[in-house]
Amino acid sequence: MVIHKAEFLASNTDYRKCPKPDKPEYAFIGRSNVGKSSLINHLLGRKNLAKVSSTPGKTKLINHFIVNDEWYLVDLPGYGYARIAKTEREKWEAMIRNYLLKRTNLMTTFILVDSRIEFKKSDRDMINWFGENQLPFAIVFTKADKLTSNQLASNTSAVKKALMEDWEELPPVYITSSETGLGCDEILSFIKGNNKEWREA
Ligand code: GTP
Ligand code: MG
Repeated sequence: MVIHKAEFLASNTDYRKCPKPDKPEYAFIGRSNVGKSSLINHLLGRKNLAKVSSTPGKTKLINHFIVNDEWYLVDLPGYGYARIAKTEREKWEAMIRNYLLKRTNLMTTFILVDSRIEFKKSDRDMINWFGENQLPFAIVFTKADKLTSNQLASNTSAVKKALMEDWEELPPVYITSSETGLGCDEILSFIKGNNKEWREA
């Protein structure tokens, strides 16, 4: 898919105030600092569309972007950030869970997992929550450029093995880097295929 237009639309805390759900939508979620905003910028070919920061917790709202006038992309705040107050975290969780459960046009959520570090409980819990709620998702390993191919293979297979303990089937899995662009074409093809289903529905 060629991206010829990508624009920021709105930031919200309440899913009911998000743009009218009249187009297929794809959300990006993952631990703080995993590289959500960086990957979104790379996918859309725009350097600073989604705000990137080396300080975790940069993205705090449900951020909508419109792509090719045809589909919505959503940058969500990161989870698992230890230095956030409990009340803040609970507010965040309610906001995101409501959005994920109730947003009617949400086709798939990409759950980003850092390929450099061991599989965290918060990632596993999030993935299992999607499974239990029967919400479609794909797993995206980020920052692949920081590893050798051996390390990458070993880390990603450890995660897949852990998931197979909980589930019979694996979701789609992508290995990506926002430095090299690895995996971006595959994700865009996946979105293109889903957009076609939306039109035909
Ligand atoms: P929050 O919004 O705080 O939850 O973070 P985020 O998940 O949006 O992460 P963000 O894209 O802001 O990136 C966090 C840091 O990781 C930044 O310093 C990025 O430059 C770096 N980073 C992100 N993706 C990659 C990647 O693919 N490779 C490398 N080497 N660094 C990356
Ligand atoms: Mg971000």
